[in-house]
Amino acid sequence: MARVEVAASITTADFGNLYRVVRKLERAGVDRFHLDVMDGHFVPNITFGPDVVAAVRRLTQLPVDVHLMISEPARYVDRFLEAGSDTITFHVEVDEPGDTKRGTLERIAAARRVPGLAVSPATPIDAVRSFLDRLSIIMIMTVEPGFGGQHFMAEPAAKIAQARGLLNGRPGGQVHVDGGVSAETAGVVGGYGVDVCVVGSALFQRGPDTAREIEAVKLAAADSRPVGATG
Ligand code: DX5
Ligand code: ZN
Repeated sequence: MARVEVAASITTADFGNLYRVVRKLERAGVDRFHLDVMDGHFVPNITFGPDVVAAVRRLTQLPVDVHLMISEPARYVDRFLEAGSDTITFHVEVDEPGDTKRGTLERIAAARRVPGLAVSPATPIDAVRSFLDRLSIIMIMTVEPGFGGQHFMAEPAAKIAQARGLLNGRPGGQVHVDGGVSAETAGVVGGYGVDVCVVGSALFQRGPDTAREIEAVKLAAADSRPVGATG
């Protein structure tokens, strides 16, 4: 049975006590942290910037995945590298030339961090094809980017299988799924061969049952993962 990791998205957590949030999620068994950076321009919501990423970085040894939902990743990527991000994923839909996006992916790799592209629900997977030689993560969005706590969209989840196909055979290639993932929906994304489930509100709504929810997501996703999916 292939292992599936859980990345905790803290967008809907209590920012008044980040230390406690991080400790609690670590104890509950998350594998990584997923930090949603929103600029109020690429998406209609604002969260936080590199200083909060650096703060989480100081609080944990687990991998810190930064998900940039910002209009100008090329302009800000260095700040997020300096903040100690382990992986940086930005949106393939941003209005920057292909060469600029390629350059951003190369800068992330040159800093020995892991580069990725995120794909919004309405975007076909083909949009990442021309960047495949430069990326290690494909992040499939199963909600419209912008807010935590939205309902899982089943249709775009099918792109996980296509992304897995594009990355198969590539050492270190990972497919992440982001948006509305919980114990109820993990089987669907596991069935498509996902490697990392981003889970946000499901971890915070269930209060003391966080550990159980994490375990249930991992089990449901791994149970349905197709034989032979590698990554
Ligand atoms: C949506 C964010 C997600 C989200 C995850 O724009 O990228 O990471 O906060 O949270 P849930 O699990 O609540 O959808
Ligand atoms: Zn995210």
